[in-house]
Amino acid sequence: MENKNEKKSLRGKIYSWFDERYNISGIMDFAKKKSVPKFRETIWYYFGGIALLLFVVQVVSGILLLMYYKGTEDLAFESVHFISTKVSFGWLIRSVHSWSANLMVLAVFIHMFSVYFLKGFRKPRELTWYTGFALLVLSMAFGFSGYLLPWNELAFFATKVGTDIVGEVPIIGEGLLRLLRGGDDVTGATLSRFFGFHVAIFPGLFVIFLFLHLLFIQRQGIAEPDDWQKLPESEKKTIPFFPNFAYRELLIWLIVINILAILAVFFPWELGTKADAFASAPEGIKPEWYFLFMFQLLKYLPAHILFIPGELFGVLLFGVGGLLWAVVPFWDKRTPEGFRNKIITYVGVFVIIFILIFTILGFIMN
Ligand code: HEM
Repeated sequence: MENKNEKKSLRGKIYSWFDERYNISGIMDFAKKKSVPKFRETIWYYFGGIALLLFVVQVVSGILLLMYYKGTEDLAFESVHFISTKVSFGWLIRSVHSWSANLMVLAVFIHMFSVYFLKGFRKPRELTWYTGFALLVLSMAFGFSGYLLPWNELAFFATKVGTDIVGEVPIIGEGLLRLLRGGDDVTGATLSRFFGFHVAIFPGLFVIFLFLHLLFIQRQGIAEPDDWQKLPESEKKTIPFFPNFAYRELLIWLIVINILAILAVFFPWELGTKADAFASAPEGIKPEWYFLFMFQLLKYLPAHILFIPGELFGVLLFGVGGLLWAVVPFWDKRTPEGFRNKIITYVGVFVIIFILIFTILGFIMN
C-alpha cells in the first residue's frame, strides 16, 4: 500500500515539475479537446501520416547503415556487402531502408493526389501544397541519390542516364550535370557528392519543409470537403483525436510496418555486381519506378521535333508540366468558378493515367 502511494506521488511530482515549467497540462487539455471531423476517417487522410512514419523509418535505418557504410569508390560496394553478409541483421536493415524508401515515395504520391482531388490546396492552404511539393521533389531526390550509394553496376549506369537527362536542361543543364557528377563523368567524385546530398543536404532541407508543412496543418486543421461544408452544423459529427483518431492512425502504422517487414524479410534487397566505369552498359538499364514514366516517354520521342532535339523537347515538356503541377493553387484560383472543379478532376485523371501508362510501358519494354 505504502509503495503504490509513493509511486503515484512520484509520478505526480514529475508531472507537476514539468507542468510548472512547460505548462504541459495546457497541451494535454488541448489534445483532450482536439477533435477530428468525421470525414477524416476515410483512408485518404492517413497517407500524410504514413509518409511521415516511413520518413522516420528512413532516418533510423539510415543512421544504422551509416555505422558501416563507406562513401568512397573503392570501399562503398565492399561496405554494403559487409553490411549484408557480416553485420548481424545488416541485410535486414538495408532491406528495410530500401523497401521503406519505395513505400514512402508511393505514400507521398497517393497523399499528393488525394489532397489534390479533395482540393486541400485551396485557400488558405496554398503554402501547405507548396511545402508539400518541395517534400515530393526531395523524396524523389533521396531515391535518386541513395540508389548510387551501393556503387553497383545497375545504379552506376542508371545514374549516368539520369544525369545525362539533367544535362539536357537548356542553359543551366551542363552546369547542373557537372554539379551533380563532380566532373564530366560519373566517378568516385559523384559518389561522394551523392553521399553528401543523401545524408546531409536533403535531410536538412526535408526537415525544414516537413516542419513548415506540419505547422501549417496544425494551424489550419484539415480542409473540409465540399459536401461536408454543405451539411447543417447539427450533422457535422466529429471524433476525439485522443484516443479514437490517434489509435486508428497507430493501427494503420502497425499495418504499414508489418507490410514493410514482410517485404524486407521475404524479398531482401539485392546488391548485384560492383560498378566498373570501363564496362559497357548492361541491357535493360532503367531508373527507379518513380522516374520510369519520364524515362520511357523520352525514349519514344523522335530525334527532332520541329527544330528542337527530341530529348530537349521531352525535358522541356516535363519541366513545364512539373511547374504547372507545382503551382496548382495559383492557376486553380484563376480558373472560372463554373469550370474549376471539372478542370481539376480532368487534369488530375489525365496525369494519373499518363504516369500509369508510361510506367507500365517502362517495366514491359526494358
Ligand atoms: C513526406 C512527405 C509528406 C508528408 C510527411 C506529409 C504529411 C502530411 C500530413 C500528416 C497531413 C495531414 C493529414 C493528411 O491529410 O494526411 C498533410 C496534409 C496536407 N499535405 Fe502533406 N505530406 C507530405 C507530402 C505532401 C505533398 C507531396 C503534397 C502536395 C504536393 C502535400 C500537400 C498537403 C496538403 C495540401 C495538405 C492539407 C490537406 C487538407 O487540409 O485537407 N503533402 N500532409
